[in-house]
Amino acid sequence: MTAARLGALDPTVFELAARRVMARCDELARITSTPGAITRVHLSPEHARVNRLAAEWMREAGLQTRQDAAGNQLGLLPAADPEAPVLMLGSHLDTVVDAGRYDGIVGVLMAIEVVRLLQRRDDDTSGVDAPARSPFDFGLEVAAFSDEEGARFGKALLGSSAVAGTWDDAWWELEDPDGTTLREAALEFGLDPGRVSEAARRPSELVGYLEAHIEQGPELHARGEPLAVVSSIASARRFQLVVEGEARHAGGTPYDMRRDALLGASEAALAVERICSTQHHIIGTVGQFEAFPGAMNIVPGEARFSLDLRGEFDGERDRVWDQISRELDDIMGRRRLRWHTREVHNAPALFCAPLLQDVVGEGIRSTLVPGSAVDGSILGSGRPEDPTTLFSPAGHDGMAIGAITDVGMLFMRNPDGVSHHPDEAVSLGDVALGIRALAEAVAHLGAEHRRT
Ligand code: GLV
Ligand code: MN
Ligand code: MN
Repeated sequence: MTAARLGALDPTVFELAARRVMARCDELARITSTPGAITRVHLSPEHARVNRLAAEWMREAGLQTRQDAAGNQLGLLPAADPEAPVLMLGSHLDTVVDAGRYDGIVGVLMAIEVVRLLQRRDDDTSGVDAPARSPFDFGLEVAAFSDEEGARFGKALLGSSAVAGTWDDAWWELEDPDGTTLREAALEFGLDPGRVSEAARRPSELVGYLEAHIEQGPELHARGEPLAVVSSIASARRFQLVVEGEARHAGGTPYDMRRDALLGASEAALAVERICSTQHHIIGTVGQFEAFPGAMNIVPGEARFSLDLRGEFDGERDRVWDQISRELDDIMGRRRLRWHTREVHNAPALFCAPLLQDVVGEGIRSTLVPGSAVDGSILGSGRPEDPTTLFSPAGHDGMAIGAITDVGMLFMRNPDGVSHHPDEAVSLGDVALGIRALAEAVAHLGAEHRRT
């Protein structure tokens, strides 16, 4: 299928597809462990429910479904040659705590729509529906990854790491806040930890990975543009830190005798902000913070906090971590405290493949041609011939999948840029444009693939 043929589709199909995506985002938002909010973590009963629903929608779009050994939900539209590699399209269905309804989810649902639009059904005169097939030399596979956020076990990208074959058996001992290990959770979910390697794919099985995602910052909104090509995804490290002091009477302990762990940790959190905020594309966030024993009349004897550290380049990020570590030594030394840390997540920066950046750019350009799904006049002041390219400080499954194949990403405008929050939003019109751009990107890749 060529881009031109896609262009001949009735433009309303993209809007209809976007309406279905938005309605399904609302439906998935109701599958939560916390009524009134959206929280859906890895290997939870809610995870099982959304996988079942996504599988139903995949089958309804003509895909052959299976849940893999890591709890990822997959849907395949095979090529005519059953040995042909596949282009993977997708994102994740897990959420952070008290999430919005689009982060990850919208990318999975858009992928299903794109595959529905692109598939071919050969004429079958017997009256029986012929099985749907990919119109390209490669198959199309929708991936709904099981854990991108790491909201339950701290370690992010568990589902996509299993697919990339970079699983580390040490992760089985990670614990959730209730003390349940990842191994116990997997068993309870019905997975066999001994078979996780079966989820791994070989590079030769894949043509690449394409993902559509809302932007999780305000850049596109500020520029008045709906879509962007992603150039790279930030590298990330996550740490759990513990500060140890001495718990003593709040009234009876003079200041010069105190070893207050909470104050040491507080200084550390401020140091993270001071160090990171002055460096380009380095972002440090302390998002969890607890004091123990946690009583009003006891000087805190222990404090625990998290650090999420990101950078455009792995080396810069690591240099900043060394700087933060030295600063923590100074602070804790001065306050007669001890500190130690455990690293729970480490993912390298991911640079999107030039060819996939090109086809995503072509996809965005195609949304501007006359007869496109949504009137190009809503595109604001952006220069259509030159799609905007953005660096993603937010993490995505492509960071893991990049270990085995090329990655490309499409961002959609997010009003105000709020994300990881219930107010997260994307408009129907931008999702319609995104579906068209993604479908066109796949069609362009199909044409490129045939040429090579
Ligand atoms: C996931 O969205 C992350 O960037 O942490
Ligand atoms: Mn996401
Ligand atoms: Mn997220």
